[in-house]
Amino acid sequence: MDKLVCVQDFKALAKRKCSQFAFEYCDSEGGNGVTKKDNCEAFLRYKIRPHILNDVSKVDLSTSLLGERVSFPVCVTPTGLQKLFHDEGELETAKAAAELGTGFVLSFWSTTPIEHITNNTKNSDRSWTVDLIRRAEKSGCNAIVLTVDYAVVATRYGDIRKNFIPPSTLNFPNLPVASADELEVGFINNMIDPSSNWSDVVWIKSITKLPLLLKGVVSGAMAKKAVEYGVDGIMVSNHGGRQLDCQPATIDVLQEVVKAVDGKCDVFLDGGIRCGTDVLKAIALGAKAVFVGRPVVWGLACNGSEGVKQVLTILRDEFKIAMQLAGFASIPELQAATDVVVTASYYYTGQNSF
Ligand SMILES: Cc1cc2nc3c(=O)[nH]c(=O)nc-3n(C[C@H](O)[C@H](O)[C@H](O)COP(=O)(O)O)c2cc1C
Repeated sequence: MDKLVCVQDFKALAKRKCSQFAFEYCDSEGGNGVTKKDNCEAFLRYKIRPHILNDVSKVDLSTSLLGERVSFPVCVTPTGLQKLFHDEGELETAKAAAELGTGFVLSFWSTTPIEHITNNTKNSDRSWTVDLIRRAEKSGCNAIVLTVDYAVVATRYGDIRKNFIPPSTLNFPNLPVASADELEVGFINNMIDPSSNWSDVVWIKSITKLPLLLKGVVSGAMAKKAVEYGVDGIMVSNHGGRQLDCQPATIDVLQEVVKAVDGKCDVFLDGGIRCGTDVLKAIALGAKAVFVGRPVVWGLACNGSEGVKQVLTILRDEFKIAMQLAGFASIPELQAATDVVVTASYYYTGQNSF
């Protein structure tokens, strides 16, 4: 077995371990893949400037997420069809997140019933949506995440070329559909309601007391509007570059969103997080926590729950070391320092006037 020392090692092994179909589904991108590529590359444009001579012998990585404490600020973002990657699918991923004391979001396209997840981890049809929200409440979920960048499925050249239809062995126990057999692309589009609008945010808030997080915000203006509609959290996300192509990289819009929200709700980020310094940059620029998608799926494909744990542990440990080297012993300390992360252009445009 290869020595897996960083997140990218899991991608290489997952490519060998899972079917070509599954690997390509995970790697899928909207349009020409501009956004997917930029999500990762944008992180390289940000530089970290350590604070020196601070005591970092003890580091507290914990933070809160919609009122719940997590032991470090790297959580699992929703990804569908996890039984493509491991027989136990979402259950393995949720167990890994619970064992490490961090958050997990179950996808709408989960291949495991919502009740199995919560029981095992302790933690255009509106009646069906109400039913799903009730199931989430009853099974002890802590929040509802409403994905708002998915009015229709994007043009995905890879999926079109291979005529993407999930294997008929997969079931979708949280959807009003018996099996993957029924899931042609036309049907997937029928499951999503492109007429969804802001009144649905009001409606969801009226039928549940669970906190509501909007996933898929990439501008200050939309974030401000979301706050006006009373959401409890905003996830800066472009669906990992799988939906509308040419959206900005998430790290590039984070500061704009944080400024627009002005402390009225928590801001999170997903997209392109691959190492500990990526986590540090996002937290320093105002994210309360980050979420990871593809790296978790690679971990799942490599070694089930253990693989997911290894990926999350690598990110946690790399983040801790980055915190110590940057001179910070806690997340509030890092967030209070406004001079730590700058874009590379800072050094070329005469802004550094010392
Ligand atoms: C295989 C796969 C399936 C996904 N399924 C969903 C989904 O069902 N619902 C959703 O809101 N986002 C879904 N996403 C998007 C992720 O939640 C997330 O926004 C994205 O993966 C973050 O980027 P990253 O993969 O670079 O970490 C999926 C992503 C992947 C890779």
